[in-house]
Amino acid sequence: MKNFVLLGAPGSGKGTQSYNLVEKFGFIHISTGNIIRNINIKNKKLNILFDNYYNQGKLIPDDIIIKIIENYLHKIIGNLIWDGFPRTIIQAKKFEKLLKKMNSSINHVFYFKIDENKLIKRIIDRLICSFCGRIYNKINLLPKILWICNDDKKALIKRKDDNEEKIKIRLKIYNSITFPLIEYYLNKKKLTVINADMEKDKVWNQIMNILVKKNGGNK
Ligand code: AP5
Ligand code: MG
Repeated sequence: MKNFVLLGAPGSGKGTQSYNLVEKFGFIHISTGNIIRNINIKNKKLNILFDNYYNQGKLIPDDIIIKIIENYLHKIIGNLIWDGFPRTIIQAKKFEKLLKKMNSSINHVFYFKIDENKLIKRIIDRLICSFCGRIYNKINLLPKILWICNDDKKALIKRKDDNEEKIKIRLKIYNSITFPLIEYYLNKKKLTVINADMEKDKVWNQIMNILVKKNGGNK
C-alpha cells in the first residue's frame, strides 16, 4: 500500500490530477471534500453540521475528519491518493499513527503551488457532476454535452462553497492552518513542489517525473 498526498490551496488542481492518477494507474482517490459532499446529500443530521462548516468555507473539526478516515482505511486495499487530507498538523500526526498501525506510511507529498489570483478564476469557472463529483471548467474543460457529465449524464452544478465570499474564507484558512504542513513535510524530506500555475498536461508531467524517480519507473 502506497500513500501519496496532494497538498495545495483550493482550486490548485488536486482533484483534476487525482482523476488522472486514477485513470492511468488505478490508484484509489480519497478526497475528504468529496466524502463530505456525499454525506451531505445522504444524511440529514450531518447536513446541519456540514452547513455550519463546509458551506461556510470552514474546516470540519479534526475529530470528525479523523473518524471518517479511520473508517475508510479499514476498507481499502491498494495505492492511495489523499486529496485534501491531511490539512492540519493534528490530522497529519494522527494520520501517521494510523498508517503505522497498518505498517504503512506516506510515500510522498505533492505540494501544488499556485498564484492566488489564478486559482480564484479557476474556482469561479468550476462545475462538478452532481452525481459522481467529476470536475469540469466553463472555460478550459467543457463536457461533451453542455452542463451534462460525460460519464453518467447527470447535471453539472456549482459547489456551494465556490463563490467569492467563501473562497476568501477558504484561502485565509488554508494560509493559516494548512500552509504550515508544507514545512512539516519538507522537514521530513517527503515533499516536492509542483508548479500548479501551468496548464494541466504540464502539471501532470511534473507529477509523472516524480513518481518515476521515486519508484524507478514502477508506479
Ligand atoms: P475540498 O473539496 O478538498 O476543496 P479544496 O481543498 O478547497 O480544493 P478544491 O477541491 O476547491 O480544489 P482542487 O485543488 O481540487 O482543484 P480542482 O482540481 O477542482 O474541501 C472542501 C471543504 O471540505 C473544505 O473547505 C472543508 O470544509 C471540508 N474538508 C475537506 N477536507 C477536509 C479536511 N481534511 N479537514 C477539514 N475539513 C475538510 O480544479 C479547480 C478548477 O480548475 C477546475 O475547474 C479545473 O478544471 C481547473 N483546473 C485544474 N487544473 C488546472 C490547470 N492546470 N490549468 C487550468 N485549469 C485547471
Ligand atoms: Mg478538490
